[in-house]
Amino acid sequence: MRTLLEKYPRSAEYLLDILHDLQDAEPRRYLTPEALRSAAEHVGAPLSDVVGTATFYSMFSLKPRGRRIIRVCESPPCLLMGAETLLDVLRRYLGVEVGETTADGVFTLESTSCLGVCGVAPAMMIDEELYGNLTAERVAAILDRLGRDDATR
Ligand code: FES
Repeated sequence: MRTLLEKYPRSAEYLLDILHDLQDAEPRRYLTPEALRSAAEHVGAPLSDVVGTATFYSMFSLKPRGRRIIRVCESPPCLLMGAETLLDVLRRYLGVEVGETTADGVFTLESTSCLGVCGVAPAMMIDEELYGNLTAERVAAILDRLGRDDATR
């Protein structure tokens, strides 16, 4: 963790980048209490400010997550184009609610605000990959493919 922090100047200006790096470095893809304390100490900010920042942005998590993170956009354009139906498909397929991780630790289901691709609503993001123009059938096909990929790991 120290090596990671040392690449950043000791300024709150870099807090978001630092939090991203700390979260990415954690196998369960969340910000541990130690990571939050280290970030606060590094940038010289109160821990409460760092926790406030980490809880404000939906891309950060303070609890362990799965190896793959599925984020479904729930902003109005995606909702109008059927995002709620997609969430239902995902809930049924994964057997979890939004904010939960599957028992095998593979998938975490999250909702998010606009992903910036409203022109292809409804949209979701799995890890760093964007998917748009989604239908229930397409979501099921994507999950089947990911499930197969994961089984071969
Ligand atoms: S509203 Fe869903 S991507 Fe913009």
